[in-house]
Amino acid sequence: MGIKYYESERAFKLDTPQSTYMIGIVDEEDFIGHIYYGKRIEDYHLSYLLRTNEGPYVPSKNNRDRGSFLDCFPMEYSTHGIGDFRESCLSVKTSKGHSACSLAYVDHTIYKGKKTLEGLPATFGKDNECTTLELICRDKLLQLEVVLSYTVFENLDVITRSTKITNKHTENITLTKALSVCLDMDNKDFELLTLHGSWARERHMQRRRVGYGKQGTSSIRGESSHQDHPFMALLTADATEDRGEVYGFHFVYSGNFMAQVECNQFDTVRAVMGIEPTDFSWQLEEQASFTTPEVVMVYSAEGLGKMSRTLHDLYRNHLIRGIYKDKKRPILINNWEATYFDFDTDKLLAIAREASALGIEMLVMDDGWFGTRSSDNCALGDWQVNEEKIKGGLKYLVDEVNKLGMAFGIWFEPEMISPDSDLYRVHPDWAIAVPNREGTLCRNQYVLDLSRKEVRDYVYECLRKVLSSANITYVKWDMNRPLTNIGSYYLEANQQGELYHRYVLGVYELQQRLIDEFPELLLENCSGGGARFDPGMLYYSPQIWCSDDTDAIERLKIQEGTALIYPLSAIGAHVSDCPNHTVGRTTPFETRGYVALLGTFGYELDVTRIPEEDRAMIPQQVAMYHKYNDLVRQGDYYRIASYSQNHMYDCWSVVSKDKKEVLVTFVQVMARPNYRSRRIYLKGLDTKAFYRIEGSEEVYAGDALMYGGLNIQSIFGDFKGQLIHLIAE
Ligand code: GLA
Repeated sequence: MGIKYYESERAFKLDTPQSTYMIGIVDEEDFIGHIYYGKRIEDYHLSYLLRTNEGPYVPSKNNRDRGSFLDCFPMEYSTHGIGDFRESCLSVKTSKGHSACSLAYVDHTIYKGKKTLEGLPATFGKDNECTTLELICRDKLLQLEVVLSYTVFENLDVITRSTKITNKHTENITLTKALSVCLDMDNKDFELLTLHGSWARERHMQRRRVGYGKQGTSSIRGESSHQDHPFMALLTADATEDRGEVYGFHFVYSGNFMAQVECNQFDTVRAVMGIEPTDFSWQLEEQASFTTPEVVMVYSAEGLGKMSRTLHDLYRNHLIRGIYKDKKRPILINNWEATYFDFDTDKLLAIAREASALGIEMLVMDDGWFGTRSSDNCALGDWQVNEEKIKGGLKYLVDEVNKLGMAFGIWFEPEMISPDSDLYRVHPDWAIAVPNREGTLCRNQYVLDLSRKEVRDYVYECLRKVLSSANITYVKWDMNRPLTNIGSYYLEANQQGELYHRYVLGVYELQQRLIDEFPELLLENCSGGGARFDPGMLYYSPQIWCSDDTDAIERLKIQEGTALIYPLSAIGAHVSDCPNHTVGRTTPFETRGYVALLGTFGYELDVTRIPEEDRAMIPQQVAMYHKYNDLVRQGDYYRIASYSQNHMYDCWSVVSKDKKEVLVTFVQVMARPNYRSRRIYLKGLDTKAFYRIEGSEEVYAGDALMYGGLNIQSIFGDFKGQLIHLIAE
């Protein structure tokens, strides 16, 4: 059991293989304090770390300075308005208009396994895989019950947290802030790592020193966003890829979020994460509950690399579901960059014929097959097949593709509505809008109000009809704009603050319905590229389109930042044509293949029109995918060199769990004149084993490859890549 309660100490000890987390109950009023989180400690006598034996002391000893106590005591879940001036997790509005609240420990339970979070995505584990602690706390005056849940995974250095707030009063209360996590620690000269970007530049890493005051990242776009990411890590300043302490926090949620670190007057840091409080409120009627989304906390004493591998294992085994969880995905070809809106049945079949002959396994028909949609100006919401383009109908097209031995997939953007659509003409009030205020168009579209059941039912029925009409085995679910002008024609005035969250719950409900009714479906989430690449979406779809930028060199940075926290099996990556449509760069076809191999692997080009020498390479790439995909999907990922840091070359590897097989990918971004071989240091090998480089007579000891290194002979030309496959003898 990873969780124990020590009565004498009034302390809870949560142990993972290499980390310990401790909570203590103190003083007569049962304050819940955070004792410790870090490297595993066997002893449990750690309450001295709470510093209750020094000034300002606890209120029973010194109530005169109660405010000072509240403002420095390390809190497990901070509340607003009573004297803790650091960022709080919980804030309310009572019927009298007051906002203060205060929590004290009441009781606890410890049990094997983990409960699901109703309506929310969350990690899962069997009874023999994890243990849960529920700390029950209460605000006596407000009659508000707060249950803090902690689940410890037995084989991973992971603790997940979420909070359930229940109104036990006879009066309604409004939550104005309900974060998921608070963690107070002494500042060990921490640095903060976050991920940022833009469309076509998602998840670039940023590392900065933690200074006094508040710093972090957040989104109020209604989605996790291109620009910011619901992740942060606190690292000791000496932390590298392989050394140093790392505390990772990842939010299992797909809407507005806040991830913040605050360094205070006593050089302690408070990390908080949860739903962004801007424009958030939630009405709690008598006995009603609100559950916050889950936060995954990871501890690594072996740098960032270990954090990544822990998250990869957690998500592969305890978050991703469905038949593709452990399965190879079909190699697809998507027509977006091949044709954009200019396609019909003949064109798609011509692509499919050529693609199937080359070994590609699925055709995906992207945007433009429905209503009057021949540009991105109209028809979202009108999900009827356009038979002028799809001549002979959808079933005919799918059957013809199937006859070629290929599967068929289709694009939807279910959450949207174009002002120029039949749907909008009939139901203008189905769009999210502030009445009488002109809506803010983005890509000429509005967002559907998914807080309304009738809207969700309409959307679902459209999807269901199309998917039932032919043998469609893949859906790309897109979402191409943020939420603005937040307002629902349906919700009462005092519930408008619930719309952002209700919207996300609506998306989750729809995706759950879809995978329940079509369990064989391969779902790939997407949002203008990677604006909703988050653990929440990963619970519904085993893969997510990583970025609209398919340039192999841009992808090095994007995929490095993505693989920092997501398994390679989840990263949607395709080989596209050159000059690249986003940056105009020309890279070798071979390199494009190596980079896409880091993810799901597929194509996004007109295979009937690319240069003959590129086309000729596709069967080899298909074989490469089949040869290495088990390893890529299931193995341990190591960053060896980072192009975003050295500006010259990139290198990563995947090592099988039994350490018998290693695949190293090296990309020389810029060639360097008059230079000798480049030495890279492999990681994660069996130091006692000997590895042969496949296709050569070269055999090296594992420890030699790790500590002495491997020489990569210089390559002539920019953007050149190579794969090195090592097998233990
Ligand atoms: C988004 C997606 C693209 C493509 C287009 C279609 O931008 O990220 O891959 O599907 O929409 O409009």
